[in-house]
Amino acid sequence: MNRTKYNMWLQYRPISNIKQYELLMNEISVFGDTPAIKSAKVEVDFALSKMLNQAIKVKGEDPTAKIVIGTIEKLGNLLNETQIQKLKSSNDEGYLLSSSNHQLKVIGNSDRAVLYGVHHLIRLVQLEKDISDLEIFQQPKNQFRMLNQWDNLDGSVERGYSGNSIFYKNGQIVQDKSRIKDYARYLSSVGINAISINNVNVWKEETYFITKKYLPEIKQIAEIFRAYGVTLYLSINFASPMAIGGLSTADPLDQSVKEWWRDKAAEIYEYIPDFGGFVVKADSEHRPGPFTYDRDHADGSNMLAEALEPFNGKVVWRCFVYNCLQDWRDRSTDRARAAFDHFKPLDGRFHENVILQIKNGPMDFQVREPVSPLIGAMPNTNQIIEFQVAQEYTGQQIDLCYLIPQWKQVLQFDTHIKGEGSSIEEIVAGNIHPYKYSGISAVSNIGDDENWTGNTLAQANLYGYGRLTWDPSLSAKEIAQEWIIQTFGNTETIIGTIEDMLLNSWEIYENYTAPLGVGWMVTPGVHYGPNIDGYEYSRWGTYHFADRDGIGVDRTKETGTGYTEQYEEPNQSKYNSLEHCPDELLLFFHYVPYKYMLKNGKSVIQHIYDTHFKGFNQVDGLIERWDSLKQYIDEDRFENVQDRLQRQKANAREWRDQINTYFYRKSRINDQHNRTIY
Ligand code: GCU
Repeated sequence: MNRTKYNMWLQYRPISNIKQYELLMNEISVFGDTPAIKSAKVEVDFALSKMLNQAIKVKGEDPTAKIVIGTIEKLGNLLNETQIQKLKSSNDEGYLLSSSNHQLKVIGNSDRAVLYGVHHLIRLVQLEKDISDLEIFQQPKNQFRMLNQWDNLDGSVERGYSGNSIFYKNGQIVQDKSRIKDYARYLSSVGINAISINNVNVWKEETYFITKKYLPEIKQIAEIFRAYGVTLYLSINFASPMAIGGLSTADPLDQSVKEWWRDKAAEIYEYIPDFGGFVVKADSEHRPGPFTYDRDHADGSNMLAEALEPFNGKVVWRCFVYNCLQDWRDRSTDRARAAFDHFKPLDGRFHENVILQIKNGPMDFQVREPVSPLIGAMPNTNQIIEFQVAQEYTGQQIDLCYLIPQWKQVLQFDTHIKGEGSSIEEIVAGNIHPYKYSGISAVSNIGDDENWTGNTLAQANLYGYGRLTWDPSLSAKEIAQEWIIQTFGNTETIIGTIEDMLLNSWEIYENYTAPLGVGWMVTPGVHYGPNIDGYEYSRWGTYHFADRDGIGVDRTKETGTGYTEQYEEPNQSKYNSLEHCPDELLLFFHYVPYKYMLKNGKSVIQHIYDTHFKGFNQVDGLIERWDSLKQYIDEDRFENVQDRLQRQKANAREWRDQINTYFYRKSRINDQHNRTIY
């Protein structure tokens, strides 16, 4: 095992100027001994001893110690009135770092908050920040900060690009759970507080996860996560009452079905008293759901919500519902419309422990999509947004694609749902509508590769996801810098070079792949590499409609599918109008001739040629920059990224040439610069 790779951003590298941290070299007193407090204790001891290169003494409860760590309940008497008020007015996960009067205090509103506070302190030290005069109050902006594992019991990971599952192997839950524990540590270090541990597509054997056959072991996993402040959820099969319960129906309004789920919930909570609840993919891509019984998604989710309600459990119900058996000849159906059309009319009918989980875009995690118009459109229904940290359509952790800039753009989008300022960020934080539960969820990108994420640089997406969901006001650059310093070291050349690579990588990836928001054009099934017409005559509803005259999907209200009407004004008019639609989303909303002039002064076809030549060249630039770091980075991680970048280059070349050739052959319009097109 190569620990450097494995330790991701928790390297705890010895820092050069330890003098400034003299205060930390005293005895540390940690109050309490719950599992989460114990984790905090172990972590602070381990981290400081390594970074300061000396044994740190952690002792029992002593309020006069130079460093005191604990909850407000235990340590409130060490605080002044203002501090107490501030902490009390922040949420359960809020904490204070204060270093006045020669005492450093890390005090949280809960055990979990203490753990977050400890990680904050550790981060400050690893980033070599001044800690002599701290007065930092922090609380997460989002209540739900969740990850979804798409792991299967056979050990495979759906859309996993980092090896196999760390949870399951050969049809069993892994015996050695140390890696799960390390994962929990990483998650707590960036503030993730919930996880579902199995694929949203719940196959035959995984349906039994909610039975005695698996619950004893899942209980152990829940305990591991609990000690790091992470609540465990399970994905469930909506047809469980039939598949494993011996009933003849899974109809959500059937009495025996309701009872079955009620008993099931009670049984699960006997094993896991703080079980989070169910994640449900229903009536989506052939998964069973309420439609079979002519019931809707409120009926389906409410039935489960009732079963979980006595235990404070939640139903996280996914809105990825669309017709995946579409006839490509049918021009009236538009997949982009589906989630809104299905769910918006149900607003107000969901129980208060149901939370709708909505993908950030209306299609499926493409490199560029507009923001889903469903987010914020249901004032009376809890919602969380779903991102994909796994790079299914953004290079599969072979190609570099730092996704924080994309997520930030989504969060900053102003829906105007309640007038100006109704950004996605505020909606999912629960500040626009009075949601009881809200926040952010995402598909994880980890596996059992030694470095967890396939491409070492893809660790930045996991780190960034956590940091951003905690504090969406952090910039993509700040997050990148934090991650780089903790992961590779505090050297200007390293920081500048990697930061530049990360911050440009999304644009680079977009440049050489599907243009102007049209999406797809990927190898069907696999979703890596180009296949321009791969999905064009398929049943998945993912078309680009390129012909000899032009390309794009007409989603306008006058001549297209009317999808634009799902947005509030002024977004509706902006997207609907050819004149005002932003270039980067043009082909998502409009069909245009190849010679149509973009706002950037180029024709669509010339833009396609230019970005594709440019994108490929930019990959060369990435390679050069990475190569320049050879002397600064350990061989293993250096070679890992170097190898991925070479593969990215081959991929970019294929995309460049296939896209350019395809559109040249369709349009017969020459490249103004006469570059090679085949
Ligand atoms: C995508 C992905 C599937 C996944 C689905 C989902 O379509 O390709 O593998 O199951 O999303 O989010 O449910």
